[in-house]
Amino acid sequence: MLSLKIQSIIDAIDKEGYAVIEDFLALNIVAELAGEADMLQQQGAMKAGRTGTVIKNNSVATNPRGDFIYWLAEHELSSIQNQYWQAMQVLQRALNQHFYLGLFDLEAHYAIYPTGAVYHKHLDQFREKQDRKISIIFYLNHDWSTKDGGALRLYLNKDSEIDYIDIQPDGGKLVVFLSDQFFHEVLPATRERRSLTGWFRQRGSQLS
Ligand code: OGA
Ligand code: MN
Repeated sequence: MLSLKIQSIIDAIDKEGYAVIEDFLALNIVAELAGEADMLQQQGAMKAGRTGTVIKNNSVATNPRGDFIYWLAEHELSSIQNQYWQAMQVLQRALNQHFYLGLFDLEAHYAIYPTGAVYHKHLDQFREKQDRKISIIFYLNHDWSTKDGGALRLYLNKDSEIDYIDIQPDGGKLVVFLSDQFFHEVLPATRERRSLTGWFRQRGSQLS
């Protein structure tokens, strides 16, 4: 049987193409993941993020993101990463059952945005590589408040600059959306901002 949270993600994706779920995993898991991200950062294991196409003022931006990332390796997961991974497998199976997406793989990285860092408006699917079908962002920030900034601005309409929602990166919150449908950006924050961001990949690499 599907858990209520997984079911609400399926329903929201079906209706809107995106879902925002509070407290997707227990707080102690969120805290352990956040601690691991901090440790990796202290060890110097996080590297500056790189990306493909980003739209800014109708041109390709040169320095689109200011985050530092660390890729998870499926065959070398720490025990806390494994808890996250297992939950995502459940979600992947549910998405496949309901939408016949043929999702077969997850790629995921920790991301730390230093104070003031942004990620300009972009799509997670690149023109040359279209296998990312579903974006999943899991936030690891304890006690985030509106005044801290750092929202994920999700544009609800590809043709509109003003039709968006701002999603606060609260610890435990999971955001799920169709990678080829939603432009989004990360606004600057007044404190460090952590997440575990992933993409379910689709066999065949075709846009639907
Ligand atoms: C990304 C991204 C959004 C966020 O890593 O591609 O858009 O809220 N992240 O961290
Ligand atoms: Mn993105």
